[in-house]
Amino acid sequence: MHTRIYLIGFMGSGKSTQGKMIARMMGYDFLDMDDWIEEQEGMTVPQIFSEYGEAYFRKKEKMAIRATGTLEKTVIATGGGAPCHGDNMELLKASGLTIYIKLTADALISRLSTAKTRRPLLEGKTDDEVRTTVKEMLNERETFYKQADMIIDGLGRVNERIVNAIQRRG
Ligand code: S3P
Repeated sequence: MHTRIYLIGFMGSGKSTQGKMIARMMGYDFLDMDDWIEEQEGMTVPQIFSEYGEAYFRKKEKMAIRATGTLEKTVIATGGGAPCHGDNMELLKASGLTIYIKLTADALISRLSTAKTRRPLLEGKTDDEVRTTVKEMLNERETFYKQADMIIDGLGRVNERIVNAIQRRG
């Protein structure tokens, strides 16, 4: 069994929610990479974006990926953009089992419209702009997400299907 499980996928795909449940079901620890970065920086992700910009956040994100490489028996929820910059997807794959929680753009748009988490890349946009942005970003990012070791449909009993798939894989 892999000691590190990385959940990847677009904002709003349920990486943190599913990750916590999967960790509990497997007796693993859970780590949310955005929370890790917030603790390291003493700022929230939106604050980091507005004070230092996206490029700075991406550097911290790479550091977070590297830092997770020594964790044992841990399910890790990555930020939606984490696998899509530099060689991060290769790093993630070299470090553990990568699982893409896949949802359509329409499903993501509807979830994001009711989400409580603040997401700097979508903030200040009209509903129409959010729709266009999500579709465009998902298109670009799927090239990376699809390199995951496993692709799981993000609707329905996601946690159970992921745990079953991990156990089958061994
Ligand atoms: C981002 C996703 C966010 C967070 C940051 C940037 C992205 O994480 O890392 O706002 O580029 O998609 P979630 O996927 O948990 O929302």
